[in-house]
Amino acid sequence: MWLHLSLLHLSCLILCGQSQASDAAGRCRYTFTVAGPVESSCTGGSDKAAVDGMLSRLTLLESLVSRLMAGADGGMASAHEGGLQEAYSQVTRERNQLQQEKERLNGQIQDLQRRLGELSREAEQIGQAPCLQTHTSAGGEHEARPASDPPYSPGSEAYQEMKAELTEVSASHLLPEANHSFTGCGELLSVGEPVSHRKADSITGKYGAWMRDPEPQGAHYTNRTVWRIDAVGKDVRQLFAYEDMDQFSRGFPTKVLVLPEPVESTGAAVYRGSLYYQRKSSRTLIRYDLATERVAARADLPHAGFHGQYPYSWGGYTDIDLAADERGLWAIHSTSRAKGAIVVSQLDPESLEVRRSWETNIRKRTVANAFMVCGRLYTLASYAAPNTTINHVYDTATGTRRPASVPFKNRYRYNSMLDYNHAQRKLYAWDNFHMVTYDVTVRSSR
Ligand SMILES: *[C@@H]1O[C@H](CO)[C@@H](O)[C@H](O)[C@H]1NC(C)=O
Ligand SMILES: *[C@@H]1O[C@H](CO)[C@@H](O)[C@H](O)[C@H]1NC(C)=O
Ligand SMILES: *[C@@H]1O[C@H](CO)[C@@H](O)[C@H](O)[C@H]1NC(C)=O
Repeated sequence: MWLHLSLLHLSCLILCGQSQASDAAGRCRYTFTVAGPVESSCTGGSDKAAVDGMLSRLTLLESLVSRLMAGADGGMASAHEGGLQEAYSQVTRERNQLQQEKERLNGQIQDLQRRLGELSREAEQIGQAPCLQTHTSAGGEHEARPASDPPYSPGSEAYQEMKAELTEVSASHLLPEANHSFTGCGELLSVGEPVSHRKADSITGKYGAWMRDPEPQGAHYTNRTVWRIDAVGKDVRQLFAYEDMDQFSRGFPTKVLVLPEPVESTGAAVYRGSLYYQRKSSRTLIRYDLATERVAARADLPHAGFHGQYPYSWGGYTDIDLAADERGLWAIHSTSRAKGAIVVSQLDPESLEVRRSWETNIRKRTVANAFMVCGRLYTLASYAAPNTTINHVYDTATGTRRPASVPFKNRYRYNSMLDYNHAQRKLYAWDNFHMVTYDVTVRSSR
């Protein structure tokens, strides 16, 4: 915009020069005032104001042209007609330029209006997304299901049973054994306070995924590189790379990678130099090599529900959640055979083939999110309650589930993503525009 305004300013200078030259000749004098770009349009700063300013200047120029044409100023000596003609054609050129500029700006306005419309619709959809705010604490038999939910109707007994178990376990049961000088793999003991590193500044950042590679490979990116995907939108393909946490917090990406196929929801993971994600509206998993910027592998996750069939409680097409931990790469999902219970599948990080699957009896819809630590699945009770808990542990080593009660805070009350980084021993989360981390302590047991 500034460029165009300076163009205008320049044209003013040229015009003024013309009239002054005539003045210097002492025969005729044209004086007119053209509002400068600063006065007329820069206070509002919007395109609309700029166009208005431009229009008024255009009008002034047009009237000048007609005055020149009509010889309205009178006393024009034929000797000066050549000069005037030149001035006239100059003004005409300026006018045509301005007209083009105006059309271009109008186009931009329409573009922005269209985008605004899209985003408003998106915002509306978010508003209508399943919001079971009091989900975990209420624990009622009949939870309100949003109309858009898929048809699967849960048998509520299993859930009731879990609730009953939950009440018997308290956090203090686990805490005395906390060992902060952890060196090996073990059980999650506690989750610290959330630390916000960045707040997204547009609606596309309401929810998303962000992470660091716990086991980076190659020279391209390091364990300092921060990755971010804003997941709001119909066609999510942008993967932002930040040099380090500092640049991330300031919002200065070093690179934007454009993914060849769109991303579904917030379940992506970065592991061993690749981005792993679920392709939009499919059960297809993609391994995207970050160094070569190419799809390195793809595979369907057998029988996995997708696009709202078995999401976490907040919805948002969180059917397939990828996670990396000390033991490898995992997909947390469900299948029609499991009838909505969480299935944990260990994946081959190269080929994405399923090595082995475990069917838990935790219904995916009853939990807000989940992550893996040392081959154990941990589930989050609520995505919205400010004080909630990690409420189940499923151990793939024994194939058993236990209730847990590790306190967890959703400071911004809309937690859409939760992943564990074993190299840093931190949880990465995306909570209502905020990209937050939590320190965790793990008991060294095996
Ligand atoms: C904590 O874990 C480390 C490493 O496993 C061990 O050497 C240490 O004795 C543990 N400390 C406590 C207080 O359990
Ligand atoms: C990255 O790895 C190095 C070496 O292993 C380690 O010292 C450093 O703390 C790691 N940095 C982060 C941000 O994880
Ligand atoms: C959450 O817990 C903290 C203490 O850990 C307490 O101060 C706060 O009031 C609680 N918030 C709610 C909404 O219960």
